[in-house]
Amino acid sequence: MVNKFYVPGEPRATRVHDLFTTIAPRYDLINDLQSFCMHRYWKRRLVQLARVKSGERALDLCCGTGDLAFAMAPGGAMITGLDFSASMLAVARQRRRTSQVRRQRSEVRSPERNAETPSSGCRPLASVFFVRGDALHLPFRDSQFEVVTMSYGLRNLADFQAGLSEMVRVARPGGRLLVLDFGKPDNALWRGLYFTYLKWCVPWFGRIFCGDSETYGYILESLKNYPAQNGVAAALAEMNCERLRIVKFLGGMMSINYAEKRGL
Ligand SMILES: C[S@@+](CC[C@H](N)C(=O)[O-])C[C@H]1O[C@@H](n2cnc3c(N)ncnc32)[C@H](O)[C@@H]1O
Repeated sequence: MVNKFYVPGEPRATRVHDLFTTIAPRYDLINDLQSFCMHRYWKRRLVQLARVKSGERALDLCCGTGDLAFAMAPGGAMITGLDFSASMLAVARQRRRTSQVRRQRSEVRSPERNAETPSSGCRPLASVFFVRGDALHLPFRDSQFEVVTMSYGLRNLADFQAGLSEMVRVARPGGRLLVLDFGKPDNALWRGLYFTYLKWCVPWFGRIFCGDSETYGYILESLKNYPAQNGVAAALAEMNCERLRIVKFLGGMMSINYAEKRGL
């Protein structure tokens, strides 16, 4: 049976938007549960590969509740997170407020320690901005960002190639592009086990926490219709990119595509 949140083509964005409106309040919790917290490690790995430096501009597309945007901020770069879901962005902004209040309290409690370690002050979070927008029609001029990232977003777009092409367009020549998403293991047995987990176990998180198993049944449906790491690498190779690399986790269940925009 086809998942109600998955429809191919143009109308897809409306269904995906409805999906994330439904799951936004529980999104972070379910991420931890369904991945056994491993998504935190995969995102840390992406941030390492991105090598974001002070003074650079980084753009995180389909930023959701802000995991990557916050993780890239301590390097001192200017980070923009973009998403089309007001509900997901509301969680991101709430997280920023909460962590700023915590930091201010800790500065009041131990001013000496904070004076010794200025990087633990509020500055990094102050350089994270969230904007509402469509990843397929970015509101930015060409060649603006040293780093452009997208985690668990590309698979949700109506046209993944158009999404990649927007990433390449707004990246500076030499800019780093990184895509983290569910992958497709090459080993058929491993892939079968993994798809079985996505089909029979993961929808339970949707049923228990969001009252609708189709919210998380969507992951498998969208993955089947997504070319995953090899398709993304092939598309990037045709889009003026070089230094292509695929970093696989758990035999390809998850993967990061890395590329740099040609032209330096
Ligand atoms: C699975 S979440 C990923 C959130 C976050 N990047 C993470 O890794 O936890 C996918 C996000 O993509 C956003 N999204 C989907 N299609 C989009 C589009 N066309 N433009 C902007 N955001 C989009 C959704 O609103 C949702 O927040």
